[in-house]
Amino acid sequence: MSKRTLSASFLTLGLLFAAAPPAAAQTGTAADPLAPTGRWSLPERKQGRTPPMGWSSWNAFRTEVDEAKVIGSAQKLVDSGLAKLGYVYVNVDDGWWLKRRTSDGRMQIRTKIFPSAVGKGGNTSFRPFVERIHAMGLKAGLYSDIGRNACSQAYDLHSPNLPEGTTAEREVGLFGHVDQDIALYFGEWGFDYLKVDACGINVYAPGSAIVKQYGYTPVTPLIDQASINRTDVAAVRGLYEAVGEALARHNPDGDYIFSLCAWGSADVRSWGKQVGHMWRTSGDITPNWTRMLHNFDSASTRALYAKPGAWNDPDMLFVGHGDFDERHLTEAQSHFALWAIINAPLLIGYDLRNAPQSLMDIWSNADIVAVNQDKGGHQGVIAYASDDVQIIVKTLSGGRKAVALFNRGQGQAQVDLTAAHLKFADNAPIRLRNLWDKSTLAPFKGETRFTLAPRQTLIFEATGERRLADGIYLSEIPGDINVAADGIVAPEADPVVHRMMGQWSGTRDNGERPIYAGWGGAQADATPYDQALQIAGRRFDTGIGILARSRLEIRNSGGRKRFEALVGVDDSTRNTKDQVRFRVYGDGRLLAESAPMRFGDAARPLSADIRSAKLVEIVVTAEGSASDLPLVTTWAEAALR
Ligand code: GLA
Repeated sequence: MSKRTLSASFLTLGLLFAAAPPAAAQTGTAADPLAPTGRWSLPERKQGRTPPMGWSSWNAFRTEVDEAKVIGSAQKLVDSGLAKLGYVYVNVDDGWWLKRRTSDGRMQIRTKIFPSAVGKGGNTSFRPFVERIHAMGLKAGLYSDIGRNACSQAYDLHSPNLPEGTTAEREVGLFGHVDQDIALYFGEWGFDYLKVDACGINVYAPGSAIVKQYGYTPVTPLIDQASINRTDVAAVRGLYEAVGEALARHNPDGDYIFSLCAWGSADVRSWGKQVGHMWRTSGDITPNWTRMLHNFDSASTRALYAKPGAWNDPDMLFVGHGDFDERHLTEAQSHFALWAIINAPLLIGYDLRNAPQSLMDIWSNADIVAVNQDKGGHQGVIAYASDDVQIIVKTLSGGRKAVALFNRGQGQAQVDLTAAHLKFADNAPIRLRNLWDKSTLAPFKGETRFTLAPRQTLIFEATGERRLADGIYLSEIPGDINVAADGIVAPEADPVVHRMMGQWSGTRDNGERPIYAGWGGAQADATPYDQALQIAGRRFDTGIGILARSRLEIRNSGGRKRFEALVGVDDSTRNTKDQVRFRVYGDGRLLAESAPMRFGDAARPLSADIRSAKLVEIVVTAEGSASDLPLVTTWAEAALR
């Protein structure tokens, strides 16, 4: 079967089970993405308003999961107080299934490891297990795959818990069974959370060794992780959308989480927010320092793509293992603080029945959890970037900030934290409270210096006088912004993600390459290609960097009166020929527009009265086609006041 026919049949099958066509089909693909809509175009999701928290079996047990282990860890969540802090999802990952019953397609649970699932009349059921989790005041999550087969069936071949039986019986993934499986998992069994992996559309290629040796149905890959050009982005998205629609149908109360696990492939870092509550931004985390850097980087530059109900997911926590075990608490604390400040879901991956207190102290740091769970939902933004040290600042409710000083390297690092990093006034005292040791530091003005141990992350709550006393910069409120169109024409791989040495192939091949599409996406306080913002020679330390032919939706949740910015073509643009125009809309009405501008034109002020507007949209159109190169624009010092 050719790739084209296969994708078509995947889509058709997905749609067969869907009550309504996907959003793109409803609105018509021809809709002008730059036309103001006057509405927030993401679904208002009930769950996941803050990053989901809980526990997952995978990093603790891989496929050697069983009921006692899960219930034991769940009980520990409750007994230790972690559940009260928000760790409520208890997720069973890969390994739970026995087979798909071919007479009626019903999934069968491996009751040897989940004894309570025996059920009646041969119908195994997770209902008793889920009820037990619910009775503990927790929520239950399950794992599946978007294709016919799951990841363990290719990567955990020595597992005692692989699906059994004929080729068809071993097809435990959602493919061809979306509606049936979702009805079973949510309607009948009562789960609250579904993670959907993507190995089934990635690793079972016709003629591959795995297919030949294990007799799986061959599936022409829709995903090629090494090449976005060889990935059928629309087909992958279509399959996930069909699952999202089934989930919505079978959970009319909206009480569910949909976790997309396509490892940052298929441009999911750009569209995941439209489809699910969270999407993996990278391949699997491993308990290695440099892999943690890789996963962190895949999400940390994507602040504008996350918001309440939709989160970048750099993968589950590996605190407790390898480089992050109880003998490496500096590293473990860094991993945790970093996930917290970039609003990553916090999913513990450790056998909690036997957790040492030193690790419990990390997960249960209420101040750091509060940073992650702040209701504003603003992902931390990188205020200082280098390969050695980073400073990440996150807006908290009530005018406070959280700031993490992160030493990525092997040596000590001197880190100067400035008022400007925090967007606080230079001449007023700034107070820092250390969220690890709870000490309050002597107030400082302007800047203060820290010496960080190798791999250390200091994390503080910061209070001070805001630099913009009467307003807020857009880059301070990514959670209120939806990147409706980012102007990217052809997705490109993101080169700023740390390329750790291949954990699976070692140095046998030629090395690691940038692989996650999304390069050129909208950025807070940087250009889409990670340059400093600069218009006609004038540098700006704050603003939104975005390609032309883009539209941002901004909630005016604080009832602000004015939108203000200095606009222009950024000096870093490769397209120095074409002209652009900047426009501001309020609830769909044009409020202000700039004159046509080109490379080299000085930044121009653009402001609009947004007093009655609930939704502000800012749009950059491009006129002319003298160049095919990307046209970088800057909304410098963009603010709501
Ligand atoms: C993939 C996912 C992991 C885990 C395993 C299970 O690798 O990315 O998070 O679910 O599959 O096999």
